[in-house]
Amino acid sequence: QSLCASDLTRVAAFLRSDACKSVYVLTGAGVSTGAGIPDFRSAGGLYDSIRPELITASFIQRQKMRFDPTYVVERDMFFQNPFPYLEVRRPFILGTHRQQWKATISHWFMKFLEEEGKLKRLFTQNIDGLDYQTGISPTRVTNVHGSIARVSCEGCGKEMPFDDFCAQVRTNIKDIYKTDPEAPEESTSIPCPHCQHPLVKPNTILFGSNLPEEFFDRVPELHQADLLLVAGTSLVVSPANSAVNEVPGSCMRVIINREQVGQDLGVEYGPHAMRDVWSGERTFLQLIKLMGWQERLRRVKHR
Ligand code: OAD
Ligand code: ZN
Repeated sequence: QSLCASDLTRVAAFLRSDACKSVYVLTGAGVSTGAGIPDFRSAGGLYDSIRPELITASFIQRQKMRFDPTYVVERDMFFQNPFPYLEVRRPFILGTHRQQWKATISHWFMKFLEEEGKLKRLFTQNIDGLDYQTGISPTRVTNVHGSIARVSCEGCGKEMPFDDFCAQVRTNIKDIYKTDPEAPEESTSIPCPHCQHPLVKPNTILFGSNLPEEFFDRVPELHQADLLLVAGTSLVVSPANSAVNEVPGSCMRVIINREQVGQDLGVEYGPHAMRDVWSGERTFLQLIKLMGWQERLRRVKHR
């Protein structure tokens, strides 16, 4: 019942029209759940699955703090002790390295928009790099929260090859989901190959650090948007979520998400909504059909 066919028909018609020249997109973890990567805040998502007793050498345990799962993606926490983050992120990091995750229909939709000359920019909060698998032009993508595939040393600043980092994660970081919680063991460290500093860190934005300059440089482009697509994000993390209010009042905003989000940012739903449209799961497949792009999708899926 999340799908309103007439609204989507309207979106597709607008997308196809000459009036719609500049499409901007903001994505979140929900566009990659179809690839097998859990999101953050859904039931069964990352924050739901973190069991504090499974995290070794934990800052939280030592400090007897109330456990909040977002600590594992907090900057201060990482600098006190990188292991909770690395332990929790282990399956994701290794899955990325093995190229276990494949681009979903939503990622392909963005690529098709680019081929049509409509896509001006994709702002992605995701660090999984799936956007690039479609061959979308990297200069059109802004990684709002960085990327997991680049790793550097907090001591000397030198980069560590992702292959080497993953080999270290595989051997030095334990798989917490396979560990007996009764027998916790200390993780050893991942030393920098250049200076032996124990803090090597993927180039991702943790809570408490600034977003890349590029985000702030690119946000003003949104003033030219004819259509903003917001997909698979709970819109609760700032400043990424501010994108929805950077577009002009005339801009159609299409929210593609399991549930309605962003009401506190002024996104409106229901019959009175003038420019906001909401559609739930499976929307991208519907839109691909409405745009007549099924053949393109078939081709890329059978490559
Ligand atoms: P969230 O987990 O907060 O939100 C994902 C949204 O996608 C939820 O509203 C889900 O209901 C929806 N969703 C999941 N699967 C879907 C599907 N198949 N179809 C439609 N909707 C689906 O993830 P983000 O909004 O990306 O930052 O989270 C924002 C930031 O918070 C992340 O970048 C990360 C996190 O903490 C940092 O770590 C700094
Ligand atoms: Zn170093």
